[in-house]
Amino acid sequence: MNIIQTALLKLSSGEAMAFPTETVYGLGADCTNDSAVQKIFTLKGRPAFNPLIIHVSDIHMAFKYGEFNDTARTLANKFWPGPLTIVVPLNKNAKISSYVTAGLDTIAIRCPNHPVALDLLQQYNVPIAAPSANISGYVSPTKYEHVHDEFGDKVFIVPGDQSCIGLESTIVDCSVTDVAILRPGFITKENIETILNMPLTEKTSSEVIKAPGQFKLHYSPKLPVRLNVTNVHPNEALLNFGQNALTADISLNLSPQGNLDEAATNLFDYLRKLDKHPNITGIAVSPIPCEKIGVAINERLDRAASK
Ligand code: TXA
Ligand code: MG
Repeated sequence: MNIIQTALLKLSSGEAMAFPTETVYGLGADCTNDSAVQKIFTLKGRPAFNPLIIHVSDIHMAFKYGEFNDTARTLANKFWPGPLTIVVPLNKNAKISSYVTAGLDTIAIRCPNHPVALDLLQQYNVPIAAPSANISGYVSPTKYEHVHDEFGDKVFIVPGDQSCIGLESTIVDCSVTDVAILRPGFITKENIETILNMPLTEKTSSEVIKAPGQFKLHYSPKLPVRLNVTNVHPNEALLNFGQNALTADISLNLSPQGNLDEAATNLFDYLRKLDKHPNITGIAVSPIPCEKIGVAINERLDRAASK
């Protein structure tokens, strides 16, 4: 049996399995199977009120689960397959586990641009519900080894390369009249505004999901993170960007050339590497320009620092 066949068997027998996407690795299960979806929440330690994204092979599969208005259709046609998750009203006739949506009447849908993920989805022919394949609250995984670090042999992992984008998808809410960005990502607010020819509002997912106990979700390393540093304290590791005068004994540079795309690809891998380093008391991060995907990089770093 090859790897894809093993993964398909896991899905059809109600197990969770991890797989690569272009953004981060996902921990997936059959979105129609209650107990399979519950396994995702248990494995991650994820609160039940936090809904999951379903992954589809194409727009036609998406239409069976969500009600796509003109705006949502335009965005799906333009950006799929790709790193954009679209929130739409749930199709009332959809056969889907209510654990996926956490009981909401909207659903988040994404068609990933990754050959392995698309192969799985086309062959399985049912959407895969999948959050990032990390323990809830920790940094998202962008490499096979990151997922293995989190779950060991408890979860079957479809191997793949490092996720090329390296940050979770942009989430856009099309279920409301004032279309809003809920999470910044590789596809920027400006990219979406250009396609829709209108300005967007910015909200957070937690403002939209008004469930009891909802909190600002952190995605933090274990070590404290200090941002926009101008000096590095003794025993701190340095996460640097571009060329500057900052130095430290333990240091990684997200992109010595100052390329924001490269920095995004490396961000979670380098945070995980520094977090594992013995004898370090914190991670100092140099300033990173807040433009293009730098907006998403800074948003993830803000969360990492807000523990
Ligand atoms: O790139 C990605 O999006 C990755 C890969 C695996 O596709 N997935 C991912 O899933 O980042 P997760 O669960 O880590 O983040 C999904 C976010 C959560 O913040 C959740 O609250 C939000 O999407 N979400 C899910 N359904 C929603 C809905 N109906 N309305 C608003 N936000 C929703
Ligand atoms: Mg996540």
